[in-house]
Amino acid sequence: MQIRNVRDIDVHSKYVLLRDDFNVQIVDGEITDSFRIDASIPTIKYLTEHGARVVICSHLGRPKGKKNPELSLRSIAEYMNIPFIEDCLDKDFLPNMKDGDVVLLENLRFHIGEEENEDSFAQKLATGFDIYVNDAFAVSHRSAASVVGITKYLPAFAGLLLEKEITNLTKLLNNPQRQLVAYVGGGKVSTKIDVLKQIVKIADKMVVGGAMGTTFNYALGLPVGDSLCEKDMVDTVKDIMATAKENNCELFLPLDKGVGKEFDKNAKRENRDADKIKDDDIIMDDGDKTIARNKELLKEAKTVIWNGPFGVTEFGERWGRASFEFARALAQYTKEGHLESIVGGGDTVAVLDICNVLNDISYVSTGGGAFLEFIEGKSLPGIIALEN
Ligand code: 3PG
Repeated sequence: MQIRNVRDIDVHSKYVLLRDDFNVQIVDGEITDSFRIDASIPTIKYLTEHGARVVICSHLGRPKGKKNPELSLRSIAEYMNIPFIEDCLDKDFLPNMKDGDVVLLENLRFHIGEEENEDSFAQKLATGFDIYVNDAFAVSHRSAASVVGITKYLPAFAGLLLEKEITNLTKLLNNPQRQLVAYVGGGKVSTKIDVLKQIVKIADKMVVGGAMGTTFNYALGLPVGDSLCEKDMVDTVKDIMATAKENNCELFLPLDKGVGKEFDKNAKRENRDADKIKDDDIIMDDGDKTIARNKELLKEAKTVIWNGPFGVTEFGERWGRASFEFARALAQYTKEGHLESIVGGGDTVAVLDICNVLNDISYVSTGGGAFLEFIEGKSLPGIIALEN
């Protein structure tokens, strides 16, 4: 079904509740990666230029219904230079808003009703508004009150970012140029492993790196030392391997690893073959042979999907080497027109940002989990809610 977007309605003088995903990293009040915020600007601009009174709401982190100053959206309001409202259910400020005004509400998840998609919370949130706009692709896989429940109480429309995400990712899924090579890494092993089962059905090759690669190697009986590894996922990993085989998807696992003796950015880096990891080794990156192999695989690819870094990128170049070198190579191949690249996930996008190649990738999604579920072919509740 066709989703209506903001261009399909007259928003002039209307109170618009705009759901964005500002779930970004904030360290000591400083936003370390503003990509998601910046990506939301075109819709905000469109609405204000058309005379709407825009009230933005978002979640940040997982405060589980409790107020937590560390997860306040205040610094985002400051970054955007817009007024901040201390409680997302406050309505007192509404009568003072003028056409073209924008404000930001406090973290929705300070109320338990948000994550639990409580009807009464959705109704209270909707009160005082004329229109609801979902521009938060990154949270559209969650059945939250501000994503799903709210559409029962307000006419609902997609924002320009949500529309762009759907268009670009659908194009990738419906008609990818082959070979389609998926690179998957990151630390959230158990949350991603089921999604991998689906990726192997659409990709020609899947490269598994980072902590996830460590878990895969462990399932093959390789040593992992004192490293992050989900040892209870062996059966799931074997399942994925079997599904990959059935679907002619070739799997590529880490050949070697960058290891240290302590989990510290200054730890001495050694390169160790995957079958030679010692008991006291801590794996913090993919190794040099793996880095070279991963870049080599780009030569045959026409479409590349990447989600999840291959090491502890927040420790800088020493432990982010596998991710940084890959990001640069991917950008280069894309720029030279050899392939189309699609990248998603907060940590992965941060790598592109660090390497200064954000603009060289064909499409950078704002989604993490939502990006993977969309690729998997799942219907996202937030998008379904807009269709009804
Ligand atoms: C994300 O960062 O993937 C989204 O904002 C969703 O966050 P969540 O996993 O805490 O629901």
